[in-house]
Amino acid sequence: MCCNKMSEGAAAKFAELDAFIDGLNINRDDIRRRGRLIQVLHKAQSIFGYLPREVQCHVAKKLILPESAVSGVVSFYNYFTTIPKGKYNVDVCMGTACYVKGSERVLSELERVLGIKADTTPTADGLFSISALRCVGACGLAPVMMVNGKVYGKVTPAKAVEIVNEYKKQG
Ligand code: FES
Repeated sequence: MCCNKMSEGAAAKFAELDAFIDGLNINRDDIRRRGRLIQVLHKAQSIFGYLPREVQCHVAKKLILPESAVSGVVSFYNYFTTIPKGKYNVDVCMGTACYVKGSERVLSELERVLGIKADTTPTADGLFSISALRCVGACGLAPVMMVNGKVYGKVTPAKAVEIVNEYKKQG
């Protein structure tokens, strides 16, 4: 069973989420509860930065839905993440077009330089995380990487490191 409280510091975040959900005026008999789920999860992720199990459980309780309904939506949509992201999240496209143009080497180099694996926890300083994505719809620019949604095309391993170093300078 979940629903253990997160840290004390998370209380304000839960309060903000509760205020948002309460503002939707959904009651137990409201058949729109499931329809509101994605909207609520978007808000929850914007508040917490990710959707750990405690947050999913909280949302399920508030919307009077089974936990499985919430976790099913979270795992279905790529947009939702259950692991924290760094200040700068580096997405590397591993779709076919990017893969054949060397995105695996880009990803490996970024993992080596940053000392973390894709789709795991961020760097110790919280600055960077890496995600490996499927096609992001910019195949003409393959291989593609993104930093917080900003697209960089035709990246090489060396260029990827240069890009990351620029963000590192900004801190
Ligand atoms: S495969 Fe990378 S953008 Fe399409």
